[in-house]
Amino acid sequence: MKLLVTGGAGFIASNYIRYALSSHPDYQVINLDKLTYAGNLENLKDIESSDRYTFIKGDICDGKLLEGIEFDAVLNFAAESHVDRSILDARPFLQTNIFGTYNLLEAALQRKCTFLQVSTDEVYGSVEKDFFNEISPLQPNSPYAASKASSDLLVRSYIETHNLKAMITRCSNNYGPYQFPEKLIPLVILNAINKKPIPVYGDGMNVRDWIYVIDHCKAIDAVLHKGTPGEVYNIGARNEKPNIDIIKLIINKTAEILNLDNVGLMDLITFVDDRKGHDRRYAIDPAKIERQLDWTPETNFEEGISRTIKWYISNEQWWQRILSGNYMQYYNEQYGERLKN
Ligand code: NAD
Ligand code: DAU
Repeated sequence: MKLLVTGGAGFIASNYIRYALSSHPDYQVINLDKLTYAGNLENLKDIESSDRYTFIKGDICDGKLLEGIEFDAVLNFAAESHVDRSILDARPFLQTNIFGTYNLLEAALQRKCTFLQVSTDEVYGSVEKDFFNEISPLQPNSPYAASKASSDLLVRSYIETHNLKAMITRCSNNYGPYQFPEKLIPLVILNAINKKPIPVYGDGMNVRDWIYVIDHCKAIDAVLHKGTPGEVYNIGARNEKPNIDIIKLIINKTAEILNLDNVGLMDLITFVDDRKGHDRRYAIDPAKIERQLDWTPETNFEEGISRTIKWYISNEQWWQRILSGNYMQYYNEQYGERLKN
């Protein structure tokens, strides 16, 4: 089996590639990645010399490039993935997340091969009570979420119109090794380590449903191998937490691991202006994948968070290179004024 993994130099797909190569010794993986600000080949340093792994630097919007690649199944992780950036500029989100998905659908159709779309719970919008299941209406609220919902609808249309063997997964918030520091959990860990203000949007009571990245990767693999073409599978770990609770947990654990004073670190918490259109709560019902594909999350949240903090502490070179690059320009634009008020 030759898997085409798009966006393989990003957070989740790099974890998936490592997992796929180790759990399927007869598989080959082609990683197609444009290497945007979020793509980082250092995420795959330990496997880059494997003769079952190939890297192609390229854009999923480049149809000509796709014509020349042979594969048996495509897993589409490539995306612009950060909500705050989609508020600043939605264009790259529409380009990659919608047009790029269209190109990959065409490539999969020509080869009559399996297509797995890695989507998100954000397509369902915000929910006050209850949980998102696979037939919840799509009510995206950010340009990012709208672009992902659009690509999901395109995938659906290729299933209905062309009988493409496609499946969609919609997962909740991931955390774990190699996550780009713009996202909440690595941002809090790094700001705690570096004793910088920790920005909390609004009242800190927005709820996200967190899953350890490897559990997400295993779920994707289960869908690829056991999923029914045409189906949608929600993925989540039944682990809802308000942001402020997570931030305090990270601070306490970081203080414990580094033997620091947690009161001093708590003082870094800084409430800032809210994100525009900030979804109040996400909550996934993963009963379908649990029941039909015999998948369950394995990582307890506290254990996953400790493992993640320790990974960032031991991989300073990885994040120092990011913090010394273009990322800080975005960081200052996003937080500069807000942290002054
Ligand atoms: P990420 O931002 O860390 O990585 C995205 C990767 O895609 C990068 O390597 C980037 O270089 C690549 N890329 C971007 N545009 C490209 C293009 N035009 N052509 C080729 N490569 C391109 O993202 P992530 O957080 O790992 O998310 C991966 C996927 O999972 C996304 O589709 C996202 O919507 C989805 N998802 C993420 C989460 C989460 O919590 N992070 C949860 C559910 C679903
Ligand atoms: O739910 C899945 C989605 O999770 C994925 O589809 C997205 O790709 C991924 O980025 C993530 O989106 P969120 O917007 O939920 O994640 P983020 O880490 O940006 O924010 C998590 C919560 O923390 C959210 O309520 C906003 C808040 N937040 C975030 C940042 C970066 C803060 O309070 N302060 C911050 O500095």
